[in-house]
Amino acid sequence: MHRLVFRLPEMDEQPDPTVIVVLGPPGAGKGTQSSRLANFLQVPHISIGGLLRSYARDESEIGLRLRGMMALGQLVPDTLVLDVLATRISEPDCARGLILDGFPRTLGQAELLEHGLLKSLSYANNLKEKLVALHLRVQNSTIVERLSGRRVCSRCSATYHLGTQPPRVSGECDFDGSALTIREDDRKATVLKRLRIYERETAPILSHYLDKASLLEVDAEQSKENIAQEIVTAIQGILRASIAGAKNVQSILEDNL
Ligand code: AP5
Repeated sequence: MHRLVFRLPEMDEQPDPTVIVVLGPPGAGKGTQSSRLANFLQVPHISIGGLLRSYARDESEIGLRLRGMMALGQLVPDTLVLDVLATRISEPDCARGLILDGFPRTLGQAELLEHGLLKSLSYANNLKEKLVALHLRVQNSTIVERLSGRRVCSRCSATYHLGTQPPRVSGECDFDGSALTIREDDRKATVLKRLRIYERETAPILSHYLDKASLLEVDAEQSKENIAQEIVTAIQGILRASIAGAKNVQSILEDNL
């Protein structure tokens, strides 16, 4: 087994950020794998759904509208999503790279990412080299099974699965003991609607990224651990190729994790 260690940049080194967008249908494991990869690469994991859910808890009119749209499995209007995302990626921790989970979801959002959001940062140059699209492929039957078993902590949002990752105490979060809840949009009828929206709006982005990014296809039917290992190995290859000779990120392979 191998471990990849990324050295943080020295003070006098220029940042060389990479954006990894994680694509896949609802329940493909985007949140699960993004969080692992973020830990591994030491870059922020930005979950658009998570950010929107935190705004939706607000008792304002916008919060109420957001709650309604998300519970129905609808896409939130671009103006709101872009506002939330632009604020988050302008924070200093994104300067070294980031993982975008749940954005883009339409071809229009993909264009906005390339020509608007990232242009304002130092990502504008060599975008093809700096943009990695990670596609988690999974069958619809697996999705329904995963989402019907998903439980989420009402306080810290930690995610569980009744079958494959149950909490230690039934119904309680391992981290803070809070009650586990079912996400409103995980009801079967809403999941099927989200899948239809994914096929119609999001799946076409994949062919767009064949041209515009390094597209990485991963079989997400495997165990979480195997998927994570496959992603790390592939990302390592992509980063090595795109940063050959670069000074800011140095990978060191170590035996025996
Ligand atoms: P969001 O929260 O992003 O939902 P999603 O894309 O539908 O994805 P999920 O969070 O349901 O699943 P996931 O792929 O992250 O899977 P997870 O790792 O949790 O968005 C919610 C809503 O926000 C949208 O519907 C929309 O309204 C709005 N929104 C978000 N982005 C937007 C945008 N850009 N534009 C407009 N609106 C937007 O895993 C699922 C379960 O499976 C878990 O229980 C997990 O433990 C389990 N699991 C994961 N991997 C495995 C495995 N390999 N084996 C077994 N079990 C596994």
